[in-house]
Amino acid sequence: MLINSEEYCAMFEVEEKLWWYKILHEKVISEINSFANGNKEIKILDAGCGTGGLLLKLQDAAYKNIQGFDFNDDAVAFSKSRGLNVQKLDITHLQRVFEKESFDVIVSDDVLYQFEDEVIEKTISSIVDIIKPNGVFITNNNAFEIFRGTHDIAVGSKKRFVLKDFKAYLSQIKAVSISKHHYWSLFLSPLILVVRLIQKLQLKLNLVDLENIKSDVEMPSEFMNNLFYNICKFERKILKKSPFGSSLFLVIKKEK
Ligand SMILES: C[S@@+](CC[C@H](N)C(=O)[O-])C[C@H]1O[C@@H](n2cnc3c(N)ncnc32)[C@H](O)[C@@H]1O
Repeated sequence: MLINSEEYCAMFEVEEKLWWYKILHEKVISEINSFANGNKEIKILDAGCGTGGLLLKLQDAAYKNIQGFDFNDDAVAFSKSRGLNVQKLDITHLQRVFEKESFDVIVSDDVLYQFEDEVIEKTISSIVDIIKPNGVFITNNNAFEIFRGTHDIAVGSKKRFVLKDFKAYLSQIKAVSISKHHYWSLFLSPLILVVRLIQKLQLKLNLVDLENIKSDVEMPSEFMNNLFYNICKFERKILKKSPFGSSLFLVIKKEK
């Protein structure tokens, strides 16, 4: 869960325009489009949907069977205020909530970092259970411990991932494989690293008010927002599989 309800308000306000969300949503929707191959009737679930930004984009992309859930009341209320089909559910207790093999695509972006390895493995396993054979699980997660900063405290992050972590979780689950993965953004990594190292130093020097800590979800100037967006777009164009970055994007396929 995010550390305070102001974070949900910040997410709601910026997720349609902040470069980071725009790039993430484009990546997810591009994967869904290539999976759906024009079929707008596929059943899609956003697990831990926050304030509903991705569902909104899926709706704009004319997908008809979309729904989401989140465990936080503010997140559910913000999503519902956008007219989205969202309910309150706990991602770690999905057993028997949905029918087995009922979704073509499940997305879960930046939710798993809040849990211990054992819980993550069980959660992925129960997600896989409710995906149809040949369906996909798309998940973006924070990556590499070196990027840890005050942002991680604000969003309640227990861990940052590398590919090896997901290989280990999936090794216990039958009939799934990682069909695509990449880290991002490589080109913005030096800047993000500097920001996070400064945050770490501030923490060490007790310069941070832990009661009122804020995440990095904040709108920069329009110029910087466009610049970061275009750098990520350019990276996506020229690099199929970036080896480093503060996020890890994965497409996990359920076999027949
Ligand atoms: C960093 S936000 C990401 C939200 C959204 N997926 C996105 O990409 O903007 C993490 C979300 O996970 C939700 N969450 C935390 N624990 C949860 C749980 N046990 N079940 C469902 N959602 C949970 C939080 O309320 C929050 O909305």
